[in-house]
Amino acid sequence: MDYETILTETRGRVLLITLNRPKALNAINRQLTAEVIDAATRADANPEIGCIVLTGSPKAFAAGADIKEMQAATYAEMYGGDRFADWERFTAVRTPVVAAVAGYALGGGCELAMMCDFILAADTAVFGQPEIKLGVMPGIGGSQRLTRFVGKSKAMEMCLTGRNMDAAEAERSGLVSRVVPADTLLDEAMKAAETIAAMSLPIAMMTKEAVNRAYETTLTEGVRFERRVFHAMFATQDQKEGMSAFVEKRPAKFTHG
Ligand code: CAA
Repeated sequence: MDYETILTETRGRVLLITLNRPKALNAINRQLTAEVIDAATRADANPEIGCIVLTGSPKAFAAGADIKEMQAATYAEMYGGDRFADWERFTAVRTPVVAAVAGYALGGGCELAMMCDFILAADTAVFGQPEIKLGVMPGIGGSQRLTRFVGKSKAMEMCLTGRNMDAAEAERSGLVSRVVPADTLLDEAMKAAETIAAMSLPIAMMTKEAVNRAYETTLTEGVRFERRVFHAMFATQDQKEGMSAFVEKRPAKFTHG
């Protein structure tokens, strides 16, 4: 597939996806949605890719769902097409996905960042769910994911007032894993992604699944799930290699099997 709204580049075992609708501040329209999902799901099916980095431009990760594309839509069109449901294919990707966010991550942009596995933020990053100012509310998971990330009080305030959060507040609230100087964002994201991609891919996928399970289930069920998956890891070559390498005092060389 030839992409028009994103750029993709494979660097070693990392796929870098750059949102690229600069004139619309990377607003998320149908085409960009289809292209991001296509690139991510193809990478997910490719064992040569061990991590995906999703980024935008220095000014905007993404300024939201495309307002101009939605403006005239009817209820029947939104409901009939189950608008935004396609993103469930993105959250089903098993390969780890790192969001590298600089500039605006508003509305659907904040939601897209939260659909990734963790968010590295530039000190220029701005997060918000301003949809209420447009007479709507978050529609790609923001009311649910933001609440899980930052708690009810802050999520409620942000969704009801539409106010933005800067990078420092986002880090304090647990929305992002780290804040880095803007000019180092991509390097830091690539470094993290390369670290992840050097691990065993099936073990990284299982780890992602286990952490995500914490959002979906009770503590007892989650801990039981973790234990079963931990046991299953002993069926992999990479568990044998990782533990042998430790005992033999050498770096592990995972074969992703
Ligand atoms: N949709 C469509 N176009 C957008 C857009 C969006 N979400 N955000 C920005 N653009 C466009 C602008 O219309 C403008 O295009 P033109 O040059 O053709 O007028 C261009 O991008 C540049 O934007 P600005 O001139 O507004 O840039 P700025 O630097 O003055 O302001 C901004 C930047 C504060 C991010 C401002 O663009 C803004 O407020 N954008 C909208 C943010 C927003 O409300 N997002 C939520 C969208 S709804 C949503 O996401 C629903 C959901 O949950 C699924």
